[in-house]
Amino acid sequence: MTGTLNAALRRVPPWIVHAGAAGWALWWLWLAAAGALGPDPVARLEQDYGTAALWLLLATLAVTPLRRWTGVTLLRFRRAFGLWTFGFGVAHLVVWLFLDLSAPIAAIAELARPHITAGVLSLLLMVPLALTSTDAALRRLGAQSWRRLHRLVYPAAILAATHQLWIARGWETGALLWVGATGLLLGLRVGMRPGGGH
Ligand code: HEM
Repeated sequence: MTGTLNAALRRVPPWIVHAGAAGWALWWLWLAAAGALGPDPVARLEQDYGTAALWLLLATLAVTPLRRWTGVTLLRFRRAFGLWTFGFGVAHLVVWLFLDLSAPIAAIAELARPHITAGVLSLLLMVPLALTSTDAALRRLGAQSWRRLHRLVYPAAILAATHQLWIARGWETGALLWVGATGLLLGLRVGMRPGGGH
């Protein structure tokens, strides 16, 4: 069963994830421009891009535990999941900066708000991960340093979950589920042999 699934997954090229994510992002943008995202399209777009970033972050973190505990391997797609976590995070930031705020300069005052600080730090931690996501960067850094650097995904995930919990302004079920899922995936990594990647 697992073998059949893995064989089927091997036939799916990773560019499908890139095309799907890009199409998804553009589709929402089009819906917002067409006025089809409800009474507050900017807030909705910002929320949808942030939620997509969070889903993809969870998918990135789930690859190793999934392989370890079920044998199903999505390793070929992990780079695309990670890159699109960053891509949607940047899109989320762009909507906030240029459409939500009265002017991008207003972001400076917003930085002192705890949920904004957590979001910004989370995204900043993802920058070196995105920049070193190529095979060439992996070869240049060496596998060990590359893996050590990519452990930044854990604090980035904790900060992203904190960002969401703070925004929820209370113990909302949705936010708690996100935080629980992030905690579970990070917890599953504890005790795993180092070197399995994130
Ligand atoms: C520069 C970095 C970031 C900034 C400035 C930022 C800012 C914001 C703002 C202003 C909101 C709306 C808050 C509200 O409704 O009151 C928001 C919502 C959200 N953000 Fe971020 N964010 C950042 C990074 C991230 C990252 C890296 C993720 C995920 C990986 C993320 C996920 C979310 C989610 C899921 C929501 C929607 C929460 C909800 O409505 O339930 N954000 N963010």
